Amino acid sequence: MANEFSGKQAGQVDKSRLPRHIAIIMDGNGRWATRRGLPRTAGHKAGAETFRKIATYCKDLGIQYLTVYAFSTENWKRSETEVGAIMTLLKKYLLEAIDSMERDSIRLKFFGDMTPISPELRALAHETDEITEHLDRRDFQANICLNYGGRDEILRAVRRFAADCAAGTRKPEKLDDVAFSGYLDSAGIPDPELIIRPSGELRLSNFLLWQCAYSEFYFTDALWPDFDEAEIDRAIVAYQNRDRRFGGVK
Ligand code: FPP
Repeated sequence: MANEFSGKQAGQVDKSRLPRHIAIIMDGNGRWATRRGLPRTAGHKAGAETFRKIATYCKDLGIQYLTVYAFSTENWKRSETEVGAIMTLLKKYLLEAIDSMERDSIRLKFFGDMTPISPELRALAHETDEITEHLDRRDFQANICLNYGGRDEILRAVRRFAADCAAGTRKPEKLDDVAFSGYLDSAGIPDPELIIRPSGELRLSNFLLWQCAYSEFYFTDALWPDFDEAEIDRAIVAYQNRDRRFGGVK
């Protein structure tokens, strides 16, 4: 697939103009495994390692928020084995995070509807939430989208807003985009300036539908388990070379 850097080197990342928030659709784990004659679950295992590596890199670079799409509202259609393997990888990551996030100053949040998630995983997510609350809001924050869908997030927000209106604490005519953003899973977090999708697919797949209004998109053929620091540098440099006008003129 052609992008800004096909056949040429990316320039240097300008650390004074970093995006505050990068979001990534971690795609291509299954194909990565299949090409190696491995079960799809091996691709997710490798993908979880890539997430650790990229989160550390983003934190060290000075990115404040990294949001990753780990499991969508549609991913339940996959086999029980594959769903179970992803949940086990998340559990392993949460157990590690509980031990290390305070030391490393890493905040962790979940976006998505956690109701159908196992009580064990929800309890671990609750623990990481509590640790996050004690950390400084300026610390690096990773947001993991779990049982997440952009439409589902908007519907849950609308239901909560309607309930507040019915209770008399909100007025429909006072709703604006800032107030509505406060009902989303991403409340309080700036919209991602940059959304990255590896694996050659050119679609959003129900990811951050409200928040992506003015995001810059970066697509690359690399499969997520092969995604590395040089890839994220290329994506950031591409973002830094874009002309962002937000509907205005220059
Ligand atoms: C998409 O690739 C990937 C997923 C649906 C799962 C992502 C999960 C992880 C990386 C593991 C757990 C995450 C953390 C944060 C520890 P795909 O399976 O759709 O790939 P394909 O399109 O090649 O089949």
